Amino acid sequence: MSSPKRAYVETYGCQMNISDGELMEGILEKAGYEIATSPEAADVILVNTCAIRDHAEQRVLGRVGQLKGLKDEKPDLLLGVTGCMAQRMGETLLERAPYVDLVMGPDGYRTLPAKLGALDRGEAPTRPPVSGKKRGPQLTVLNLDMGENYEGLEQRRTSDVAAWVPIQRGCDHRCTYCIVPYVRGDEKNRKPTEILSEIASIAGSGVTEVTLLGQTVNSYRYDGWDFPDLLRAVARVPGIRRVRYTSPHPNDFTEKLVEVMATEPAVCEQLHLPVQAGNNRTLKRMLRRYTVESFLEKIEMVRAAIPDISISTDVIVAFPGETEEEFEDTLDLMREVRFDDAFTYKYSPREGTPATRMPQEWFIPDEIGSERLQKLIEVSRGIQSEINAGEVGRTEELLIEKPGKHPGFVLGRTRRAKAVVVPGGPELIGSYRWAELTRTTGATFVGELVEVPVGTEVA
Ligand code: SAH
Ligand code: SF4
Ligand code: F3S
Repeated sequence: MSSPKRAYVETYGCQMNISDGELMEGILEKAGYEIATSPEAADVILVNTCAIRDHAEQRVLGRVGQLKGLKDEKPDLLLGVTGCMAQRMGETLLERAPYVDLVMGPDGYRTLPAKLGALDRGEAPTRPPVSGKKRGPQLTVLNLDMGENYEGLEQRRTSDVAAWVPIQRGCDHRCTYCIVPYVRGDEKNRKPTEILSEIASIAGSGVTEVTLLGQTVNSYRYDGWDFPDLLRAVARVPGIRRVRYTSPHPNDFTEKLVEVMATEPAVCEQLHLPVQAGNNRTLKRMLRRYTVESFLEKIEMVRAAIPDISISTDVIVAFPGETEEEFEDTLDLMREVRFDDAFTYKYSPREGTPATRMPQEWFIPDEIGSERLQKLIEVSRGIQSEINAGEVGRTEELLIEKPGKHPGFVLGRTRRAKAVVVPGGPELIGSYRWAELTRTTGATFVGELVEVPVGTEVA
């Protein structure tokens, strides 16, 4: 009998894509593959890609080029590119990287074993040579399928501590800068009963924290269920102690949702609410469909209900047409809200998105974009350091997630999603411990383990 084939999946991009990587591993394992821990040990390598910014794509193309080296040594090795960049580039990718055997978009993973089998047997079309070089059989799977939500398939979960659970795929918004709707299609939601039974089984395996995932996770709807209904039900699954979700869209951030967050003990005091810009004209060009004022109202609403909540955001600078004054408005918004964390990006034009068709003179020179990004990072990091310095001395509950960078230390996270390094060995991973935050580096904390404070013991 021949030994099982080994597959290696290397994932880039957002949590959704990481979760898709686990899904592919689950599908392959079920089909009899072993999951390899390095590309060198694999018979199949899948690079699961992101298309959100040009920089992300360039990095991955470089990596795919590097992996070609392994293919030269091992001619039977199959090299596949999956995910958002695969969907975006399609056939072009086979020309850019003629040694790639398979290009598969985010709705094709169910057919992964069948397609790999076909390639193994040479049952795939051969395309014309590129720069005089002959090509082997190559396959593309690029249909976006409204019916595919991967129901009934098992993700291969690698963490014993926390689980990411996709409840939605695709996106119904059309923010003018964003490629996601074009590479992942329209919004599709999973059945609440399926989600809840999956989470019950996750809890049964000893995992106590779940994060619900979707591009606009809070616009979730299924039959009579909306997102707050689902969140409440998830928070009540026995064994689940922490629930988070990402990313909500400000427009669907409702009073009902805040009410569930404030009243369900398992829902963490943490919110990631992407604002993108702090000026109404910019927001309008981005087609975000809310105003600075309405965004601020939502922040006020959640802080009134959960005063200690930590809030993070995403911001894009140098979007086409952004004037100096509009950019200053974004800085003002940062100073007004005082986010605990901000993921900041310079606008990257994505072919096929509406923003690329805006008047040429609206596009901001790269140096100005870089300067604005630098300024924004300074402001947001400054605020973050101030907030965190003010939190030194607190005692908080940590879920220990993984080993620290230095031996003898582990990394835990507070309910408010702050990372804390504490002394301890790997046996602590997966357990809850209390720690006093003794020091901050600005973004993260160093802490000392302490006894469970009286009155907070878990029954
Ligand atoms: N669905 C999520 C965002 C997913 S993309 C949401 O709506 O919040 C993650 C972040 O990447 C976005 O919030 C945005 O800030 C950034 N982003 C998306 N497209 C971009 C582009 N073309 N250039 C720069 N940043 C971009
Ligand atoms: Fe992209 Fe906007 Fe959809 Fe988020 S909501 S994925 S930014 S189109
Ligand atoms: Fe990237 Fe696709 Fe996620 S474009 S950010 S991997 S949805």
